[in-house]
Amino acid sequence: MRTELSFAGLAGVETELLAVLAADTQTAKGPEAKPAPVLLTDDEAVKAAAAAVLASGEFKAGANEMLLLHAPAGLKAKRLLVVGLGKQAKATVHSVRNAAGTAVRQAKPRGIRELVFALPQLGSETPPRTVARAAVEGALVGDFDADTYRSERKDQSVQRFTLAAPETADRNALEAAFAEGAIVGESQNFARELVNEPGNKLTPTVLGRRAAEMAQQVGLACEVHSTEKLHELKMGAFWSVSQGSEEPPALIVLRYEPAGAQKDGPMLGLVGKGITFDTGGISIKPADNMEKMKYDMAGGAAMLGAMRAIALLKPDVRVLAIVCAAENMPDGKAQKPGDVQTAMPIAPDRPGKTIEIINTDAEGRLVLADGLSYARQLGATQLIDAATLTGAIGVALGQVNAGAFANDDATYARFETALKVSGEKFWRMPLGEEYTEQIKSDIGDIKNTGGRYGGASTAAEFLHAFAEDVPWIHLDIAGMAWIDETRPYIAKGPSGIGVRSIVEWVRSY
Ligand code: BES
Ligand code: MN
Ligand code: ZN
Repeated sequence: MRTELSFAGLAGVETELLAVLAADTQTAKGPEAKPAPVLLTDDEAVKAAAAAVLASGEFKAGANEMLLLHAPAGLKAKRLLVVGLGKQAKATVHSVRNAAGTAVRQAKPRGIRELVFALPQLGSETPPRTVARAAVEGALVGDFDADTYRSERKDQSVQRFTLAAPETADRNALEAAFAEGAIVGESQNFARELVNEPGNKLTPTVLGRRAAEMAQQVGLACEVHSTEKLHELKMGAFWSVSQGSEEPPALIVLRYEPAGAQKDGPMLGLVGKGITFDTGGISIKPADNMEKMKYDMAGGAAMLGAMRAIALLKPDVRVLAIVCAAENMPDGKAQKPGDVQTAMPIAPDRPGKTIEIINTDAEGRLVLADGLSYARQLGATQLIDAATLTGAIGVALGQVNAGAFANDDATYARFETALKVSGEKFWRMPLGEEYTEQIKSDIGDIKNTGGRYGGASTAAEFLHAFAEDVPWIHLDIAGMAWIDETRPYIAKGPSGIGVRSIVEWVRSY
């Protein structure tokens, strides 16, 4: 999808579809209170075209509610689509992001390949550039369908999305924000594309190749290592997951080193779980829903998407990304419950921690343990990891919030600020010594599961044992990485969660 910004008036714009937003301004409650939809544009021609239908009371401007008028009077557009934002008092830049996605997703099945979206005016606290950025992100996110492998739906994409801003707008500010939004939206879709790939097409090796291709395109340094390097680095935890598969593991390392960054300044370490298929290993999963475990590399994909955006947005901070890719399979060489593995030493002068394997299906924390240690050895001063780590996080938070954990409030505060920009929903979950008790091993230093209760927190504490006191955020996206039901503004399938927030967190340094 091509994205453009225009400053031409709405009345004269020739397009298949002109989308405008409306909010419900009714504040009273009770049976007498009638919805009062108001268009969020100053354009008199658009207001006139929609006046009668808005007055009819048929359209209430509820969130993502839609109204489609053909041949609207007084406009050059062939169709006028009004998208609701819900109550005006609650309408935010995030509602606009979704509304832009909703408009695009309305166009797609109608075979409409080009549309114009009128930049709405929100309250005075929300500058137009923030809205412009969100709108283009939402449009790109909305355009995505997981149809790579469907022959008949493939070319249904919208070809051109034009954001129409008022002639009086601050053009430079808007253009810069619009370009940022396009980068972020495209990077989120890049991650979604990877997550959608099935396990037979996207092995660890192929994920490594896709990362290298992306790195080449956007000018990032990239190394992809395999078995030999894992042994050399003594990554016993990571290797133990891949040892039961015919597919070799991939240790993907990306570096963003801007000329302007201070050499003694921070170096952010992004670590992603890249399990290209998770059978559970010898502790094999039940058949029901096992096909979903192709998305067990969504954390790794989020880091690759974030690095793509970072390379293009060029913040003044060094960023290192490590994706630990492996296939968790149960063959004759697979690790077994009861096995003891030695993780990578956190520092060269320290012994690697020993891990008692209780359940081979708790593999994500094993690959991440070595990924976090490696990031530390390469000099990361702040760490963030993303992983489809536990079913427990989905039980706790549903497909509404993803889980976040942090060992440092100041680092987490930056992430919370980033969420205000990204609009992604993360909920902070607890760490604590009591959870660490649950993963103490009688045989080794730590065991890889802590029982049924508090499963997301014991998994996080496992990772904490490797991040130690380095400021660290852990994102458990298991419940949110795959959307089961299509929403008006986003297709079912891979969500690309994490990309937008991680990018903003990085930009805060
Ligand atoms: N990849 C799964 C977690 C997962 C579950 C992701 C559902 C997406 C949807 C992870 O490797 C796993 O199997 N976790 C186990 C841990 C348990 C054995 C301690 C789980 O959550 O059941
Ligand atoms: Mn597993
Ligand atoms: Zn897994």
